[in-house]
Amino acid sequence: MQKFLEEIVATIGASDDRGQVASYIPQLACVDPNQFAITVATVDGQLYVAGDSDKLFSIQSISKVFTLTLALGKLGDAIWSRVGREPSGDPFNSIVQLEHESGKPRNPFINAGALAIVDAILMGHQPKETLAEILQFVRYLAEDDTIAIDDKVARSELETGDRNASLAHFMASFGRLKNPVDYVLGTYFHHCSIAMSCRQLARAGLFLAGDGKNPVTGVRVVSPRRARRINSLMLMCGHYDGSGEFAYRVGLPGKSGVGGGILAIAPGRASIAVWSPGLDKIGNSKLGSAALEKLVEHTGWSIFG
Ligand code: DON
Repeated sequence: MQKFLEEIVATIGASDDRGQVASYIPQLACVDPNQFAITVATVDGQLYVAGDSDKLFSIQSISKVFTLTLALGKLGDAIWSRVGREPSGDPFNSIVQLEHESGKPRNPFINAGALAIVDAILMGHQPKETLAEILQFVRYLAEDDTIAIDDKVARSELETGDRNASLAHFMASFGRLKNPVDYVLGTYFHHCSIAMSCRQLARAGLFLAGDGKNPVTGVRVVSPRRARRINSLMLMCGHYDGSGEFAYRVGLPGKSGVGGGILAIAPGRASIAVWSPGLDKIGNSKLGSAALEKLVEHTGWSIFG
């Protein structure tokens, strides 16, 4: 595996055709596109790292896996009255379905859905308290207390967040938000701005590869049924209007972020984190997807056999 990952870094990771870094969040536009990392954490406790696997990057929408897990822990199935479980087939920041569907977002991974999740977790608390809880949860999953929010990225998102503000206000107009819109947006921007390395991210995802239990520490995070369901949502909705293509090419539950990271889960086998800042037209890491496709070809880890 180590040799194979190094080959991926030397081939796919060195490609000239790297896609474009996200520019709508100015702070992300400053990231050097010539970086690449891949980490595989297996359920039997091996950790294989290659490339820039200790370099921190903005996890962006990958954080939505962790906030969904927290929300399910707090509200259980009641969360599904606030957000759906269907792929949207639309871009991650689209507003169109909200009007036809009375402000209820299609799924927890599009921006509107993640805003609904944040609103649920806030439960009348101050944003700072909720952010501390989210961060604590991510640190606990990754077993790493150094994980932090990049305030520069959060500020950059806030300053250019008109689209997300529109989504939140539109949902509020349907009576869908229970907390002040500013609280919801502030908390959302900050959790998207958590900075992690591929090494940290792969470890944080291990519970989803281990039937809800971190196979290395033995700590149960969620029930096996819940882990299966989170994985199924990642497969169906984790890459937005590119989810079908990702399932076709890679065949693993995965969650992407506009920072260029992808967390992919091979149930019963491994948690995989890849990072390459350049994105395809949909907003998913171009080389990250290619690397996962190669990895699955090599390992036979596709959930479709
Ligand atoms: O709200 C946004 O637009 C970003 N904070 C997150 C979007 C994102 O990561 C979509 N992923 N591919």
